[in-house]
Amino acid sequence: MPDRFNRAILRRPGPTFAAGLTASGGGSPDLKRALVQHAAYERALEGCGLVLTVLPADERFPDGTFVEDTAVLTPRAAIVTRPGAPSRLGEADSIERTLDGFYTTVLKLVAPATVDGGDVCQCEDHFLIGVSERTSVAGAKELAGILGDLGYRATLIDIRTSKSLLHLKTGLSYLGEGRLVVAGDLPEGADLGPLERVGVDPGEGYAANCIRVNDRVLVAAGFPRFAERLQGLGYDPLPLEMSEFRKMDGGLSCLSLRF
Ligand code: GLY
Repeated sequence: MPDRFNRAILRRPGPTFAAGLTASGGGSPDLKRALVQHAAYERALEGCGLVLTVLPADERFPDGTFVEDTAVLTPRAAIVTRPGAPSRLGEADSIERTLDGFYTTVLKLVAPATVDGGDVCQCEDHFLIGVSERTSVAGAKELAGILGDLGYRATLIDIRTSKSLLHLKTGLSYLGEGRLVVAGDLPEGADLGPLERVGVDPGEGYAANCIRVNDRVLVAAGFPRFAERLQGLGYDPLPLEMSEFRKMDGGLSCLSLRF
């Protein structure tokens, strides 16, 4: 059973949302629709029992709604990251101030190392850390060292050859019960340990970014075969419309920091 969550930090998309980084080719997002989808996401987390801290949109940071990239949260400490895209580095400051209100131990990555939280997948006491265009080798090693000091294990997975993956969790999610959702575009031979792999059908790769939140699994709407597979394994999937965030290369996990 993964850690149960009590709280989440989120930031609604703001007026500059469409100016964020994207390689999706999906067109420009509609802010009004994004806000409706974000509101449904907030309600879903609340329905899972979480108390939310919703930060105001900050137009200096178009990608600021993707709060997951700014920190790695564990029951033992919060670690504030240094996001790897220069336009996103400043996003971590307000998140650090927010985390100070919840955690007694808030650690920070040291420059020039970079880590995006989207590259970090917690599987109970073992963290998988993607080395990507955003998370540097130095950043991944520094984070692994910090996690080691906290009593966790960490394994680095180099995804730089998987061009379809922005982050490790673009193609991988931990469900709990020793199960890992894995999309086909993860590098062959990636060391994922002894975890049982739950596959994602070709054409449903976006669904691999799902999040287990207490008794539910939040999944992107529109991927019925994946939702059925989860149900077959005994999970209770909660589909959410994600079209506008997908256009900006974002997924369900990116929209919150859960703890
Ligand atoms: N638009 C999300 C990111 O590229 O970081």
